[in-house]
Amino acid sequence: MSHYTTALQNPLFKTISKASQNLNLESYVIGGYVRDFLLKRGEAKDIDIVAVGSGIDLAEEVSKLLPGKPKVSVFKTYGTAMLKSGGVELEFVGARKESYSEESRNPAVENGTLEDDQNRRDFTINALALSLSNDNFGELLDPFNGVEDLQKKIIRTPLNPDITYSDDPLRMLRAIRFATQLDFIIEKDSLDAIIRNAERIKIISKERVVDELNKILLSEVPSKGFALLHKTGLLPFILPELVALQGIDEKEGQTHKDNFWHTLEVVDNISKATDDVWLRWAALLHDIGKAPTKRFDKKLGWTFHTHEFVGAKMVYKLFKRLKMPLNDKMKFVQKMVLMSSRPIVLASEVTDSAVRRLIFDAGEYVEDLMTLCEADITTKNPKKFNKYHANFQLVRDKIVEVEERDQVRNFQPPVSGEEIMETFNLKPSREIGLIKDAIKEAILEGDIPNEYEAAREFMLKKGKEIGLVPLTPKGKMKIGSKK
Ligand code: CTP
Repeated sequence: MSHYTTALQNPLFKTISKASQNLNLESYVIGGYVRDFLLKRGEAKDIDIVAVGSGIDLAEEVSKLLPGKPKVSVFKTYGTAMLKSGGVELEFVGARKESYSEESRNPAVENGTLEDDQNRRDFTINALALSLSNDNFGELLDPFNGVEDLQKKIIRTPLNPDITYSDDPLRMLRAIRFATQLDFIIEKDSLDAIIRNAERIKIISKERVVDELNKILLSEVPSKGFALLHKTGLLPFILPELVALQGIDEKEGQTHKDNFWHTLEVVDNISKATDDVWLRWAALLHDIGKAPTKRFDKKLGWTFHTHEFVGAKMVYKLFKRLKMPLNDKMKFVQKMVLMSSRPIVLASEVTDSAVRRLIFDAGEYVEDLMTLCEADITTKNPKKFNKYHANFQLVRDKIVEVEERDQVRNFQPPVSGEEIMETFNLKPSREIGLIKDAIKEAILEGDIPNEYEAAREFMLKKGKEIGLVPLTPKGKMKIGSKK
């Protein structure tokens, strides 16, 4: 029998042990904490405790023994309780046997032994338990050879995988998520069972699905997860927009690239440059507009006109369907998708005015956009690869140079609408917008600098051109402060 008392050095474990003794019941640390300890993934902040008896009673007893008697949150329906102590979240549950109904994830619960409880868990590597009882404190209980699976890097279910996945279809996504996060292999029977049960993912709430997708996206090599989602047939139920990108068409000897596999490469590339999950989402979705806009033209070959615009609209629908936040994060992803081709056009000729427009349109996200465009370079031709990267470096340098000089990133019109109204004695009208726009255009084109004096002079000139007469003589500024 292996003992892992080093995993239990946190004094909390001794307290739980004492509380269990007081209640005359057995308790164990189980699940992710044990797995991550054995994998040396660092101390987890969430610890799952299973009691052979009432988890709620144990939580309350533990609270009594802890300084400050932390509050116990009880979830009666699930028979679980939670408390926080010293930055750690302890989750208590009574050992149980479970059987799930076909229609939902909510199980009918019966009390059980530790082994019953280990049986009903998702994977052998998550069913490892360390005893907290006084007489065998730290003993590892591993009835399904989870340690061996950890060593062999295998995801396997304790029971027949059809039962495990059918009981709780979220586990199919968890299998793929763990395989991606830990760089493990899903053993064949399990993989086949996922393929058979894929459709049952439909009964899982969108929030839980997205949680897993985010974890896959935040892994070191996210493509591994998306390739598995594709291979198992789960992807059509989750992100059909990506499935639609798969395949290569041929007409009159002309082909286009497979945009699904290209997208996965882009996601892996961007993951080397950023941990921002939203920028990773942007990489995942940057080409989704290509499926509905794909056309074959005799002269041009395969085209995807306006795919960025269509893709940005699809982002909203996709976020809405998956119950993801429809806030500034969604808008950020939309903006990245919409602008995803802009720097590519620019890279062939880096003019000041084009860069100014790019900064103006992308605003504070211009660097993120460059990161996305660099990740989008998936050519296998090393000459082209180096050339494109070098061009983007030029664009990046130019962004710094232009921004230092012109400051258009968070553009504020140097002459306000009010000042235009007062200067020409105008009521709110179309002319004001016209003049404001002309000033902005002149700045972006580089005709005038982004400065008050120059902008005011330009305003007077423009006003005259459209037949307006200023109230104050040219050069005498009545309203003076630069914004
Ligand atoms: N579990 C399960 N089936 C699920 C979810 C969880 O059997 N659908 C069990 C597993 O034993 C798991 C434990 O509950 O280890 C705790 O679940 P959770 O906190 O979601 O995952 P962790 O394994 O702790 O991993 P992570 O924190 O990385 O999600």
